Amino acid sequence: MAEQRPSGGDEQKNEARAESEPGRASAPAVRFAHESEAEFARILDFYGVAWKYEPRSFPLRWEEDRVAEAFTPDFYLPDLDLYVELTTLKQGLVTDKHRKLRLLKEIYPDVRIKFLNKRDYLRLLAKYGYGPPSAEAIQAIDRVLITEAQLQRRVSELGAQVTKDYKGRAPLLVGVLRGVACFMADLMRRVSLPLAVDFMAISSYEGDKSGAVRILKDLDENVEERDILVVEDIVDTGMTLNTLLSYLHARHPASVRVCALLDKRARRLVDVPLDYVGFEVPDEFVVGYGLDYRQVYRNLPFIATLRKDWMEDGPWQMPGIVRPKKAPRGKKKRPK
Ligand code: IMP
Ligand code: MG
Repeated sequence: MAEQRPSGGDEQKNEARAESEPGRASAPAVRFAHESEAEFARILDFYGVAWKYEPRSFPLRWEEDRVAEAFTPDFYLPDLDLYVELTTLKQGLVTDKHRKLRLLKEIYPDVRIKFLNKRDYLRLLAKYGYGPPSAEAIQAIDRVLITEAQLQRRVSELGAQVTKDYKGRAPLLVGVLRGVACFMADLMRRVSLPLAVDFMAISSYEGDKSGAVRILKDLDENVEERDILVVEDIVDTGMTLNTLLSYLHARHPASVRVCALLDKRARRLVDVPLDYVGFEVPDEFVVGYGLDYRQVYRNLPFIATLRKDWMEDGPWQMPGIVRPKKAPRGKKKRPK
């Protein structure tokens, strides 16, 4: 990855990667019997919950001195002192498992064990405080690129830098909706200057590959002779920012600078100047901390990538998320 602007971000990037893969350390090469077990381990790793895979067999029935039947729970979670058996398998197996569970509870009354189907275990994680706002959303997340703590630390640094650079002036922060909501809210509270805030909303023309953008919400403030700091969530191709900058420059501000939380530089088509950058991100679609995928995931407190297999239908599988109806083709209302 290339260097970050304006200063010293490499450390943060590597740390983000290390923090997002805690499982590497705890279990480097476990062979799981079932895909759902691997997924469960992945989710546990994701939240830094320690686990052991099939660490203990409980004898359930003896013939003479020989163990005739035993039960080996899938996981043990030491921090919760809890054994977990996943029951996402066939119904026939589940019935037999429940019989074993009853036996186990009789023979080992002090052992804490839970049978979990998929929904149950997502709820369990949420209950123990390991979940982002919605337990359903975690199924869709691939990896956390930037943690909440890293975001907060970097935004504080940016705020301090802006405070220093604009000393004696009162900048007008111009945010680009809607992805900038979290970043703007945090950044403005880290700038110790008198400042004003305004927002614009911009959209690319649907189906237009030229990158043309259209203003959905204009500024409320007059920008003439003002020091403008454009605040962006992410700069990807640079088309949006490029249009916005020409628009602003045409209105004769005293100065214009850009503060972008994320820089997806690998995809840049238009060379736009970025004065402040939070983090450089790889060429992958990211969500969270204001950024959405089809309007979902904005409320995640971190920046994450999505699982490819969830990008198509994932959001619509969540309770309460309504799939927007597609407009019937060729029936757009035209002014007569
Ligand atoms: P650009 O005009 O290609 O630079 O795109 C900028 C806008 O596209 C951003 O302000 C976002 O709204 C959106 N965008 C680009 N990449 C991502 C991403 O990875 N996640 C979410 N939104 C993105
Ligand atoms: Mg945006």
